[in-house]
Amino acid sequence: MMAPDPPKTRGILLAGGRGTRLYPMTTVVGKHVQPIYDKPMIYYSLTTLLLAGVREVLIISSPEDLPHIRGLLGDGEAWGVELSYAQQDAPRGIAEALVIGESFIGDGRVLLMLGDNIIYGGLDFLRRAVAEPTDGATIFAYQVKDPTAYGVVEFDEAGRAISLEEKPAQPRSTWAVVGIYLYGPDCARRAKALAPSGRGELEITDLNRTYLDDGRLNVRRLGRGVAWFDTGTPENLLEASNFVRAIETRQGLVIGSPEEAAYHAGFCSLEQFEANVAAMPRSAYRDYLERVLSDRKAALRARH
Ligand code: TTP
Repeated sequence: MMAPDPPKTRGILLAGGRGTRLYPMTTVVGKHVQPIYDKPMIYYSLTTLLLAGVREVLIISSPEDLPHIRGLLGDGEAWGVELSYAQQDAPRGIAEALVIGESFIGDGRVLLMLGDNIIYGGLDFLRRAVAEPTDGATIFAYQVKDPTAYGVVEFDEAGRAISLEEKPAQPRSTWAVVGIYLYGPDCARRAKALAPSGRGELEITDLNRTYLDDGRLNVRRLGRGVAWFDTGTPENLLEASNFVRAIETRQGLVIGSPEEAAYHAGFCSLEQFEANVAAMPRSAYRDYLERVLSDRKAALRARH
């Protein structure tokens, strides 16, 4: 018997917030359109969602930043993807994204990603999670030196998650929760039932704890082959930029191109990809995508 198809997974990219830790850079320009080396920050997270196989993405941001992000990314049609937009009136927490996105999620699942996170390396762990027909929650844990700024997950000897704490002063482990989460259709209902935390937010850690309490939380530990950054402080911003530059310079491959990812994921044709590249101004970014195109065409010619 064939395994049932997993339910449809849509994406939510959360890109609001205040960005206070990047002050004064965020006084007039929001965090998510600021550069990580050679691209706006939000390109990286959007690319990750596309590479995970998600074609419909709802982008949620603040009233100030939403017009800039929409101006940057548009409706996605040329990339063969569907980008839509919704406003978060005030930064009332990451879990509020699921409440705002309730009708978008519908009866499918959602891959929620934070716009200031960068994940690089083999993304099979994500594609595998999306392919599994679970309707609980799947989250990812990553070992960090200082977990105090994150949600922290503790495991028992058998490797089962046993506790989740938000920004603990005394962390019970070095496993931080990464800013990408997969939820089943009841996530919006659960998020609505949360009480705001002391800082007035619907906390994603509280939401994840409801799944843990119900025995419906899968926590996947990511290994050394994956690089994860969050880019909330000037220090993080520079570290991520240096990382991207090092990989790109060494390999000649560009990280975080949604145009390339959309083509790679099969969302747009070679002709459409070519037209998208032809419409770009002359730049190192365009030069790179032209190389991708000519390599691809050569490979197709060799096959025929
Ligand atoms: P944070 O880094 O926790 O918050 P922030 O972006 O407002 O920055 P700062 O702490 O410097 O003021 O947010 C993590 C990500 O989630 C980031 O991409 C912004 C987004 N976010 C929202 O869009 N809405 C929210 O209500 C919150 C809390 C975060």
